[in-house]
Amino acid sequence: MSVPFVDMKRLHAATRDEVLAAFARVLDSGGFVQGREVEAFETEFARQYDVPHAIAVSNGTAALHLALEANGAGAGDEVITAANTFIATAEAITMARATPVFAEIEDGGFNVDPEDVERRITPRTKAVIPVHLYGQVARMDRLAEICRRHGLVLIEDACQAHGEMTDGRRAGTLGNAGCLSFYPTKNVGTIGEGGMVLTSDAEVARRIRMLRDHGQSAKHEHVVPGYNYRMPELQAAALRVLAPHLDEWNAARIRAVEWYREGLAGVPVSLPATPGDGSHVYHLFVIRTTRRNELQAALAAEGIGTAIHYPTPIHLQPAYRDAARGPLPRTEQAVSEILSLPFHPAITRDEVATVCEAIRRFHAAAG
Ligand SMILES: Cc1ncc(COP(=O)(O)O)c(C=O)c1O
Repeated sequence: MSVPFVDMKRLHAATRDEVLAAFARVLDSGGFVQGREVEAFETEFARQYDVPHAIAVSNGTAALHLALEANGAGAGDEVITAANTFIATAEAITMARATPVFAEIEDGGFNVDPEDVERRITPRTKAVIPVHLYGQVARMDRLAEICRRHGLVLIEDACQAHGEMTDGRRAGTLGNAGCLSFYPTKNVGTIGEGGMVLTSDAEVARRIRMLRDHGQSAKHEHVVPGYNYRMPELQAAALRVLAPHLDEWNAARIRAVEWYREGLAGVPVSLPATPGDGSHVYHLFVIRTTRRNELQAALAAEGIGTAIHYPTPIHLQPAYRDAARGPLPRTEQAVSEILSLPFHPAITRDEVATVCEAIRRFHAAAG
């Protein structure tokens, strides 16, 4: 049996009719960009996340860019983040005309090390962007304390951590602003692109609303130069159907994690952490092995789809070489060993068993 890495068609089968009805509602309304659907989605999402302000935008990269700019980051500023993230985290910093500074990850984990973040603070540091990589929240208590002490803005890249809960609060509501992506494969993804900024700061929310729509305070009153980062009505209408499934889909992910744990018990690969307290929503199921490339090839030969998130850390990408300030050994080691296994809320127990058996066979053959 071949096992796809993700299967979006299967995931959307259950909500297909409801999404199509929502699309028809938009078509019949005659209003297609940032209208009633977006407004309703923002209200519903703010309630779901228990946060005062939820501002829908065109994608997660735009959300990060606006969160930075609305919090005052700009030319001459440095923003500390991780290098083992999707390139968009660094791009958003560049888009805000600031400079990314990459910090090391924690020993034995994938998230940024707060102590290394603190070491990299300079008089030019304006903000810190922890990325809750693969769905596991970064050490927010420690990061918040460091940011408070140094007067820095704390912006969460929660694009991979929809619904994650720490002490009763969702990832994305723990700093000055939190950013989500609704890219299709995210824990809540739309039928296209979308993003969201969450904040409890009314002034920051006001600025983001202005910046996302050409810097307008009212129609044709352009107070600041802004952007076209509006969310289309079709996306908001789909998300109004899909977002309420978040906790159910996260529970399905956690069930699949248990299947993997059972299936891989005793196999010499390192499995993701299981905090067991809701602080991991498993956007991806990422194992570590020093024989990553061989294993990936062996799985591909059996029709099993895998991926690497992400194969080259940003400080080693040509686009960001100038921002690199020396090697990041822990990050580079982790990146050379990671492998994302097939994983999504609709994956079956049989599919997980097939993947686990193939990994066992690989290790048995290799001795
Ligand atoms: C960690 C992280 N940051 C930022 C983004 C950017 O989101 P988008 O693709 O919606 O622009 C993504 C997802 O693609 C992501 O995974």
